[in-house]
Amino acid sequence: MRHKTIIEPFRIKSVEPIQLSTETQRVDNLKKAHYNPFLLLSDQVIIDLLTDSGTSAMSSAQWAGIMEGDEAYAGSHSWLRMEKVIKELTGFEFILPTHQGRAAERIIYGHLGGEGKTFISNTHFDTTRANIEFSGAQAIDIPVKEAHDMALDYPFKGNMDVEMLQNLIAEKGPENVGAVILTVTNNSSGGQPVSMINAEKVAEICKKNGILFLLDCCRIAENSYFIKHREAGNENVTYKEIAQKMFRLANGAVMSAKKDALVNMGGFLVLKDEKLADACKSLLIITEGFTTYGGLSGRDMEAMAIGLEEVFDPHYLEYRIKSTEYLGARLKEMGVPLIWPIGGHAVYIDAKALYPHIPVNEYPGQALVCELYRLGGIRSVEIGSVMFGKYDDAGELIPAPMELVRLAIPRRVYTQSHIEYVIETFTQILAERNTVTGLAITKEPKFLRHFTSHFKLV
Ligand code: F0G
Repeated sequence: MRHKTIIEPFRIKSVEPIQLSTETQRVDNLKKAHYNPFLLLSDQVIIDLLTDSGTSAMSSAQWAGIMEGDEAYAGSHSWLRMEKVIKELTGFEFILPTHQGRAAERIIYGHLGGEGKTFISNTHFDTTRANIEFSGAQAIDIPVKEAHDMALDYPFKGNMDVEMLQNLIAEKGPENVGAVILTVTNNSSGGQPVSMINAEKVAEICKKNGILFLLDCCRIAENSYFIKHREAGNENVTYKEIAQKMFRLANGAVMSAKKDALVNMGGFLVLKDEKLADACKSLLIITEGFTTYGGLSGRDMEAMAIGLEEVFDPHYLEYRIKSTEYLGARLKEMGVPLIWPIGGHAVYIDAKALYPHIPVNEYPGQALVCELYRLGGIRSVEIGSVMFGKYDDAGELIPAPMELVRLAIPRRVYTQSHIEYVIETFTQILAERNTVTGLAITKEPKFLRHFTSHFKLV
């Protein structure tokens, strides 16, 4: 018999209690947190879908690995184990461990960047862009045009526009392009996958122009799942082989291990070129730690080595992608407007379409984030004008192109009943959609305002 139910391919050995709450308590919590869920305490949250980063549940094998951690300053066996796993997966010779993704970004983009340099990506993740711009360089996003149509059913909305890539290289001059970066999957445009053929074309263009081609590979296992199931010719290749093939196209990669390495902290930078690696190693030692631990404990490296193998388990990946899709597909059936198809790690709701009566300067995404917490104790994140909005000289809001709310699914943490609870909460979200009001900002910092801003209901 072939079952339709996608079960979690694991048993639960250790549990963490969830503090349940009433709507009255949550209304009070929200008020005290100034209507910004980043300011809520985790004990006040029932289902935490704020991020899939660093929130994975580790396996019993990883916890056992923690006890095997060798905490020697130099040359520990935990380092050798992790180095071997990363080398085998990525094929790169030079492995630089870091405490998380952005530390690897700071090292490589700090070195390659500077005034006059341009970096080109399908979409730079915020920290990638911030590290590039902080160096004085420019970061340009060129996703395919299909990525701009939220409802369009297109299999690889994470792809880079290769025609634009060629034009941009010609315009800027290849010597001024610091690197071309493919983010797989493309987090900032809905967790959408990048096809192998797109990566091959990008690699070819970079090679022809003598430009460094890097992968931001923190969700590469999830990306491999989509390639196997959506791109002809990959049906009989394993997920790991697909990832290996993509790594072989690049000159290096940056990874936040807090995603597909199934750990709570960690990252790395891998490179093919020895000279570049040597320059980066100096920066690694200055800012992170010695080359055989970077910013990591020996035990972290053990857990990462194990996680990087577990993530390619076909049963895990099937459950991971199908359970994310299950949530998205059910919400779509109910009439919740969202980015389609569903990406690998999250469901992205179109809050502007859900609350057409709330103007963008009253932040429909923030209104939905607050409603999800009030009605279900669910924490999510606004990816819209609170996060990306700017002001013009007259102090008027220049809104973000989209008003999204991301429901990111932590890996191996929630069961199907938790997801059913989220779906049920949306029934009430839809029932009350016409009476929801927007918000006004009462206090905001100069940078990255979504983290700490205060709001009031309007
Ligand atoms: N690249 C991508 C594509 C990411 O999604 C992230 C983090 C990073 C780099 C930076 O890695 O957090 O380890 O320093 N994304 C998290 C998120 C924060 O919620 O999407 P980091």
